[in-house]
Amino acid sequence: MKFFIDTADVNEIKEMNDMGLVDGVTTNPSLIYKSGRKFEEVIKEICDLVDGPISAETVTLEAKSIFDEAIKLKDIHPNIVVKIPLITEGLKAVKMCAAEGIKTNVTLCFNASQALLAAKAGATYISPFVGRLDDITHVGMDLIEDICTIYQNYDFATEVLVASIRNPLHVLEASLMGADVATMPAQVMKQLAHHPLTDIGLKKFLDDWEKVPK
Ligand code: G3P
Repeated sequence: MKFFIDTADVNEIKEMNDMGLVDGVTTNPSLIYKSGRKFEEVIKEICDLVDGPISAETVTLEAKSIFDEAIKLKDIHPNIVVKIPLITEGLKAVKMCAAEGIKTNVTLCFNASQALLAAKAGATYISPFVGRLDDITHVGMDLIEDICTIYQNYDFATEVLVASIRNPLHVLEASLMGADVATMPAQVMKQLAHHPLTDIGLKKFLDDWEKVPK
């Protein structure tokens, strides 16, 4: 299972990358805005930091203009994955990208039929948003289970990239379902390593070690 970090904050990316846990990065226009930096400048810096897929999102609404954006984005760095919203025009652009060998991450997926279409269009990744579904009292992880089943049924090459992750349980459940990738905030990545019994046990070991005759 691959772990991507969902941020455009280069300091966070550096910190998590140092832990050796970052296989790739996902960004979106809101995260770029939050970084307070210029889009291309921050994307280039992220590409220099992490040797893995880096998702950069398009911001137009027609297939031709989305495809034109994709061409420009993939020229920024060979690791760029073009993130395209799951709308009809977006799916057309995904198909055009697939024909040119441009990798895509189809985003804002909220049901399994959308995911089926993205796979048929030739998406490299599908990004179902689990946290935002939970927010409106739909069980986000049920969507991941359905998508994994559909993709297995037909041997689709599209990878399931679980997005809008809010807690470690989302990551754990995604791994049990066989999702290919989890993209998460740095905080969730850190939480995955922690258990209070580990801290208590370590303290006891170190306290006892002090008492061992040396
Ligand atoms: O990048 C897409 C997704 O992970 C956004 O998450 O927390 O804004 O719903 P969130």
